[in-house]
This record gives sequence, structure tokens and C-alpha cells, in this order.
Amino acid sequence: MRLLTWLGVTAAALLCLNVGNDALRYLLPGFSGPDFIMHNAFARPWLTIHAALGAVALVLGFTQFVPALRRRAPKVHRWAGRIYLTACIVSGTAGLLLALKPAAGPIAAVGFGLAAVVSLVSAVQAWRYAVARRFDEHRRWVFRSYAVIFAAVTLRIWIPLSNLTELDFMESYRLIAYLAWMPNLIAVEIYLALSKHRLRAPARPVPGLAPGE
Ligand code: HEM
Repeated sequence: MRLLTWLGVTAAALLCLNVGNDALRYLLPGFSGPDFIMHNAFARPWLTIHAALGAVALVLGFTQFVPALRRRAPKVHRWAGRIYLTACIVSGTAGLLLALKPAAGPIAAVGFGLAAVVSLVSAVQAWRYAVARRFDEHRRWVFRSYAVIFAAVTLRIWIPLSNLTELDFMESYRLIAYLAWMPNLIAVEIYLALSKHRLRAPARPVPGLAPGE
């Protein structure tokens, strides 16, 4: 079982590095992505901002789950957390703009748009609970946030898998606008419901939030 976990974590880390590295190509002068993506009315400059900060969130976010880092270097964890959440908020806002005009049309727009909204809400909630030192809720929102950020990886797994179906590329892309993040989020919700973590720090109210919200 341990070996399986180790293999899973290593594969996920390598995929994050690979997808993050690919996304950083948008920073290269003259680099242009796939045609149908570049037709997005908001591609310039928002795609570059979205891809670059998305890469930061994807890679940095992964390291934040390493328990040894949190224990041994809490300051690094805090600063990496601030950078992660800032990257999520800027990249998510750019993602929301991109979601308004995908070449795949309104069905894809709603899928990506919902993902952007969930990602933004999770990042803001994770931040607020961290500031309020309510670490149990903070942890839950970070899990939700990363489930959606990890869509960058799962989307790139679904695309080749969709080639095995009869659907044409645009049809499957519309489906993938939902499949890329919804199963991740459902898996995280199941994990959170099954895990027995309890509040470790005394709760302090967050302005504007009802207790337990
Ligand atoms: C909050 C989650 C995310 C949302 C809502 C989102 C949304 C979008 C949207 C709407 C597009 C344009 C699609 C189109 O026009 O058809 C796009 C493209 C792109 N996104 Fe994201 N994205 C998210 C996370 C990420 C992350 C974490 C990365 C980092 C690796 C990333 C990297 C990219 C890249 C590189 C493209 C260009 C497509 C390509 O080259 O394959 N995205 N994203």
C-alpha cells in the first residue's frame, strides 16, 4: 500500500512539473499556443498571465502538502502559502476572463467559468481562515482549491483519453471543461468527509462568516 501511495505521489509530482513547465512556455517571446486557444478573445494578455501564475500555483501548491515541510519550516510554508494563494487569485481571475470566450462555445464557457469561481472562492476562504488561525477550515479550503488547480493536470489526461471515443475534439473538449475538475472536487469532498481531523487551535471568528461556515 505504501509503495502504491509513493508511486501515486511521485507520478502526480512529475505530472505537475511537466504541465507547469509546459505552461511557462507562454512567457517565451513569440510563443503561441494551440490555434483554437489563441482564438479566445481574451488570449492576449490574459492567457500568459493565467498560464504563468497557474504554473506557480500548481507546482508550489503540491509542495505545501508535504508534512515535513510544514513541521520543519513553518515560515517557508507560510510564505509559500501566500504566494500560492496570490497566484491562485490572479490566475483564477484571468481564467474567469478566458472562460467568457472559449472557441468551444457556451457549454465550455460555463464549465471553465464554474471552475474559476470555485477556485477563487476556495483561495479566498483558505486565506481568511489561515489569517483567523482556524487551521482545520483552512486545510479544507486549501484541499478544495488544489482540487481545481490540479485540473490543469487532469485536463491533459482527459484529452488523450477522449481520442479513444467517437466524439470529435470540440465535443469532448466541452465535456472536459467539467470532467477536468468536478471529479477532483468530489474526490476531495469524500476524503474530507471520511478524514477524522479535528480543530487543533481555538476558533477565532472570521469577520463576515458565521461560525462553522
Ligand atoms: C482555476 C482553475 C483553472 C481554470 C478555471 C482555467 C481556465 C482556463 C481557460 C478558460 C483556458 C482557455 C481555454 C479556451 O480558450 O478554450 C485555459 C487555458 C490554459 N490554462 Fe487554465 N485554468 C485553470 C487552471 C490552470 C492551471 C493551474 C494552469 C497551470 C499549469 C493552467 C494553464 C493553462 C494553459 C497553459 C492554457 C492554454 C492551453 C494550452 O496551452 O493547452 N490553467 N485555462
